[in-house]
Amino acid sequence: MSRSSLMPVQPAVTDVTLTRDDMGFIAKLVYEQAGIVIREHKEAMTRGRLARRVKALGLGSVAEYCAFLKTPAAQDELPELINAVTTNHTAFFRERHHFDHLRKDVLPKLVQERSNRRGRIRIWSSACSSGEEPYTIAASCRDVLGSRSDLDFRILATDIDTDILVRAEAGIYPAELFERLPPDVKPMLKFDGAPGRTEVRISDDLRRLIAFKRLNLIETWPMRGPFDVIFCRNVFIYFDTQTKASILDRFVALLAPGGFLYLGHSESLPQPHPQLRLIGRTIYERIP
Ligand SMILES: C[S@@+](CC[C@H](N)C(=O)[O-])C[C@H]1O[C@@H](n2cnc3c(N)ncnc32)[C@H](O)[C@@H]1O
Repeated sequence: MSRSSLMPVQPAVTDVTLTRDDMGFIAKLVYEQAGIVIREHKEAMTRGRLARRVKALGLGSVAEYCAFLKTPAAQDELPELINAVTTNHTAFFRERHHFDHLRKDVLPKLVQERSNRRGRIRIWSSACSSGEEPYTIAASCRDVLGSRSDLDFRILATDIDTDILVRAEAGIYPAELFERLPPDVKPMLKFDGAPGRTEVRISDDLRRLIAFKRLNLIETWPMRGPFDVIFCRNVFIYFDTQTKASILDRFVALLAPGGFLYLGHSESLPQPHPQLRLIGRTIYERIP
């Protein structure tokens, strides 16, 4: 037996030192690619996230990774970099007041208006992360619409992060997430999976209401709208005022008059918008 086969396998050591220059380089690149502003106090978090890419590429240090990103060969790495730096925290029925508003104030009106014309209802979850938001929208809509087929009802769910979209589309979650839901909303979120399973899958009936696509909010959008409701929650916090204002104008252009925009709990409009009226907690109505 050779000496090396007796030695314990040492994990490769990754040098995660992030110099000021490299931090500046990464922050600029991420801003250009995704509009995400990485502030200086996020340095430790950024280092940790870059270390994942360093390991995946078999490199030895964050410095080496930054040098690689400066080469033309790094074009394919850019989406991976963005996947690594995005924050994907989300939850079913997160900021529940939006779903209560959707179920009680928005959908019944839309159903009444559109029923006899095989009406089109469109909802966009514009930073959908791992899918909890669009599946909660689907569950809320099913609760109101039942199984009626006289409406052309669809949800578009988009995100910049290709890894998280794969998870979202699969619709598989730890069963305990469902166990922890408040009892009055729990029955809405239908899933397949025998009792006692550690993982369950969102039911086909809810999954088929949603189309998942990659979309970068700072690039051009292929959709023509109109949307009756747009969810843009907990992503504006990563953008600067200029980026938020430009995205907001484009949301307004895609929102049907009388449609609604939901922002996250700590978010607000970068400046008052002449076509948006605040009507509830981070709920804006598009005025004609
Ligand atoms: C914190 S999650 C919010 C998820 C969900 N909307 C919620 O409120 O629970 C933020 C999401 O925004 C996405 N994101 C960040 N920059 C983006 C961009 N430029 N275009 C589209 N999505 C982006 C991230 O990938 C991440 O999944």
